[in-house]
Amino acid sequence: MMMITIDDNRKQFHLTNGKISYLFHVMKNGQLGHLYYGKAIKTAGHIADFQRYNIPTPNTTHLEANDPAFTMETTRQEFPVFGATDFREPALSILQDNGSHISNFVFDSYRVVKGKPMLEGLPATYVTSEEEAETIEITLYDAVTDMELLLSYTIFKNVAVITRHARVTNRGEATLTLDRLLSGSIDFPHADFAMLQLSGAWSRERHLQERKLESGIQSISSLRGSSSHSQNPFLALKETDATEFTGDVYGFNLVYSSNFLAQVEVDHYEQTRVSMGIHPFGFQWKLEPGESFQAPEVVMAFSSNGLNGLSKQFHNVYRNHLINQKWLDAPRPVMLNNWEATYHDFNEEIILAIAKEAVDLDLDLFVLDDGWFGKRNSDTTSLGDWFVNKEKLPNGLGKLAQDIRDLGLDFGLWFEPEMVSPDSDLYREHPDWVVKTPGRSASYGRNQWVLDFSNKEVVAYLYERMRALIEETQLSYIKWDMNRNITEAYSSTLPAAQQGEFYHRYILGVYQLYENLTSKFPDVLFESCAGGGGRFDPGMLYYAPQGWISDNTDPVERLHIQYGTSIAYPISSFGTHVSATPNHQTGRTTSLSFRAHVALFGTFGYELNPLGFSAEEKVEIRKQVALYKQHQHLMLTGDFIRLKNPADGNEAAWMMVNETGEEALVSHYRILAESNPGKMKFLRLKGLESDAYYRCQDTEGVVRHYYGSELMYRGIPLKGEFNGANGELSIPMQIGDFQSEIFYISKEEGEV
Ligand code: GLA
Repeated sequence: MMMITIDDNRKQFHLTNGKISYLFHVMKNGQLGHLYYGKAIKTAGHIADFQRYNIPTPNTTHLEANDPAFTMETTRQEFPVFGATDFREPALSILQDNGSHISNFVFDSYRVVKGKPMLEGLPATYVTSEEEAETIEITLYDAVTDMELLLSYTIFKNVAVITRHARVTNRGEATLTLDRLLSGSIDFPHADFAMLQLSGAWSRERHLQERKLESGIQSISSLRGSSSHSQNPFLALKETDATEFTGDVYGFNLVYSSNFLAQVEVDHYEQTRVSMGIHPFGFQWKLEPGESFQAPEVVMAFSSNGLNGLSKQFHNVYRNHLINQKWLDAPRPVMLNNWEATYHDFNEEIILAIAKEAVDLDLDLFVLDDGWFGKRNSDTTSLGDWFVNKEKLPNGLGKLAQDIRDLGLDFGLWFEPEMVSPDSDLYREHPDWVVKTPGRSASYGRNQWVLDFSNKEVVAYLYERMRALIEETQLSYIKWDMNRNITEAYSSTLPAAQQGEFYHRYILGVYQLYENLTSKFPDVLFESCAGGGGRFDPGMLYYAPQGWISDNTDPVERLHIQYGTSIAYPISSFGTHVSATPNHQTGRTTSLSFRAHVALFGTFGYELNPLGFSAEEKVEIRKQVALYKQHQHLMLTGDFIRLKNPADGNEAAWMMVNETGEEALVSHYRILAESNPGKMKFLRLKGLESDAYYRCQDTEGVVRHYYGSELMYRGIPLKGEFNGANGELSIPMQIGDFQSEIFYISKEEGEV
């Protein structure tokens, strides 16, 4: 199938896979004009209808003396520059020797390639066979700076997704300074949108927020050196009448883990420009003759089936084209992590005792979290000293790992490679490896400093240390943490004129270490973490197929975090654990079953001390583990459908359904108890076959049968609430706060 068609006469490019269309053309000034992006269309080629220039006013500036209507001020473009009749924010800006920032990139040539070329040094979506995608690379050229701009667009065969990126190359003799290179920019002809974003803070990451677009600029960003807890590098534009299941929604997600800008500008004619890329604030990149700069990739997904439809596109593209295929449907280990069980306070005996319990609970993996190295008994010391703490683990890490393996568990370890404690041997040996500005003090975050990952020596040192430990302990899992933001950004290895490169070079160092470790140890499962979900982004997903979504393990809080995270990211990427009660972050008491029902929708595990569990609790946990293992394939490969948003009231609900609609796992959560609400509640499902006959097993194991149409249009009857009848009625009741129901639905061959 040809997905990219080119009309050479009209210089028009049409990317379509039957689901979406993306059209652009070469305008009469040689720059690229944007024509259309949305649901697939067939076009007869009347470009003028798409790119109608606005009627000029006396105030309009224009490019040609006798054509006042031809102005970039209101024209929809592919990669706008500032100052030559466009006054909106640009995608690109180059500082030239004479102090000018003006440029004019005109079409030079194009190249269509099957599949998708990789980006150098940066994580990006990929294909496993050439048939899965087609790419067009457009080369543009600015004669004055002798600079080449390559814009790359990939369209995938099976998802409503286009990825874009940009690369500039200095073809001339002069040194140029790039002070802005975004990854993508797109202009929409109207502003009837709501902007959606995933915002939050430490311990309450990625809550879905929505605002109506207004005239002017609205943006989200990070200047923290990581994609951040506060904002995720994701935004969506939802047409005003779109809902969870209907209407047009456009999503944008940057495959990048450092400072970013995601911006929407509504102009004076209510046209909308979306721009996304590396945050230009503080960014500068020196380009010597012959050098290139590669901007990260932006993933653009579209759905005409509302927000759920959009999430499905993102989930599919990330599962099939971003995470390592090795982890696509391979069972992920169900783990016990000792962080909330012991914090820093443990020794070999305690760890082995916990691990024995983990075996007894049918778990697969034991993860030793923070505290196993240096003199680390609190968070005030030893980051960087990645040598075993002999006081706690006198027989060494290799022996502990072997003992744990002998019990029948795999072994995993926590690292925070990018950090150093002021009180550490590493800092004492290499004070110049710390990120700090000369003559100024280095600010603290969790009592620690950041290592200069823009320095190749630092990255090489960490690689050696981690490699040795992985080999010594035969690790099967690594939790890679990053617990503070970058301050006083500066590298002692960069000249003054290149300090603006620091943040990007830092994250390239992080990616390099990930790349080196994952290619040397392809069987080690990585989980990314940054004080919970402070760097949960597609860049990380490329290397680490799962991420610890939050340090907040309270199940009610997690309903919101999981709901929001699911807007862009697949369930198979969520680190979700059952923790102790009362919860360590909120003090809330919830049942073991409620906690498990929330954690089931993710990669599932436990983060509590199993010593001292009663026999009944152990039986319950074993059942939970069995339930998860039975349905894990659905969590990894199914379609996630959000049914009820916890932000809308007292309930949340969602389901995972396989592609053919033959089986599904459904959950419903009721947060606070209600008194005599009276009405019977039904939960209407989605994604099933209307005429199919289904077996529906509830939380207690009771089986009923329904047709798909009943389940979708009438809904599953839910338990009743307190009404004074004290259970004398035959209706199953749920009494007390934090109740949940799980239903397993599977297609039966004909009525039974
Ligand atoms: C961060 C992580 C936690 C835990 C601690 C250890 O906060 O998010 O899960 O690993 O660090 O110090």
